[in-house]
Amino acid sequence: MSDRLFIFDTTLRDGEQVPGCQLNTVEKIQVARQLEALGVDVIEAGFPVSSPGDFNSVIEISKAVTWPTICALTRAVQKDIDVAAEALQAAKHKRIHTGIGTSDSHIKYKFNSNREEIIERAVAAVKYAKRYVEDVEFYAEDAGRTDNEYLARVVDAVVKAGATVVNIPDTTGYCLPQEFGAKIKYLMEHVDGLSAGKAILSTHCHNDLGMATANTIAGIMNGARQAEVTINGIGERAGNTSLEEVAMILKCHKGIGIDTNINTQKIYPTSRLVSSLMNMPVQPNKAIVGRNAFAHSSGIHQDGVLKNVQTYEIMDPKDVGIDDNAIVLTARSGRAALKHRLSVLGVEMEGERLDVTYQEFLKLADKKKEVNDDDILMLAGADRAAAHA
Ligand code: KIV
Ligand code: ZN
Repeated sequence: MSDRLFIFDTTLRDGEQVPGCQLNTVEKIQVARQLEALGVDVIEAGFPVSSPGDFNSVIEISKAVTWPTICALTRAVQKDIDVAAEALQAAKHKRIHTGIGTSDSHIKYKFNSNREEIIERAVAAVKYAKRYVEDVEFYAEDAGRTDNEYLARVVDAVVKAGATVVNIPDTTGYCLPQEFGAKIKYLMEHVDGLSAGKAILSTHCHNDLGMATANTIAGIMNGARQAEVTINGIGERAGNTSLEEVAMILKCHKGIGIDTNINTQKIYPTSRLVSSLMNMPVQPNKAIVGRNAFAHSSGIHQDGVLKNVQTYEIMDPKDVGIDDNAIVLTARSGRAALKHRLSVLGVEMEGERLDVTYQEFLKLADKKKEVNDDDILMLAGADRAAAHA
């Protein structure tokens, strides 16, 4: 089996569905170009039948971006597929992503249907999409809550109908990592077309219980070779699996033996671009891209990091496009961190003078959340200009 994981970015479709995150076409093109530079394999550019704006954005992204495959979402409905195919016309590499709900609750409450009819509709949609494009991805919505035996029948049928990728979404973010991994393993073992290499499985995990990334990794370790992700983990409700987490887990854990095409140094600039265009702040403690992801604030940690960064850093901030780690001075910081910061500011201090300044620093830090460079220079009895003179 291949050791290459395809990264399918759905920031512009599942991510953009978030209330308040809507982008206009020019902004979407900007994000799509950045995703291309980041090295994603597939950009899900939108759901063309949903609005004229989305239709137009898929057309413009198809013209603007050439290296990644451009993908458009549809329901298992001919009209959706016709509109998606039209929007994708200019794309160099194109994919239609069609599908239908397969869990019992979707079959009963959304479609008022039955399992056999759902398989027929799934197969018909894939065959219809194949008239337009070679690369057809099928999604079994709510696969996380679909029983494995029935899901294998659905996957087998759509692969036989020509699907090149089968997406196994944990739509409601319900699965446990072990359970999701076992689901992918079951499908790999029970669908002949997958072992024969006719199609690959894709993960598409939501974060309702905070397990989207863990589930995605479990899926990859059990045979999935595409991961559907978003920048900063944005997406419906609690969001989707975040691209930066998957890329860095695979980079940090070489033992998993799977690589992506992501240029990880472009992760942070991409995160900032998406956050600012979508007006969606990134939580400060967000893994990889949060403001505090590489900030050390307690005395014990600061002392360790100043001696050797490996004591408390498992990855180099430069690898994700962040210039350096940060030693943040708070009431929990130690003398070593204060001495280091003073030195960076051009003030060398040792012994008793450092002890006295440190005591003054602690009194100030108890009153302030964070002590800045001007405060430190003031405590040291040096102003900024003098310190650098
Ligand atoms: O979460 C989901 O099931 C989806 C599908 C439309 C792929 O977003
Ligand atoms: Zn989704």
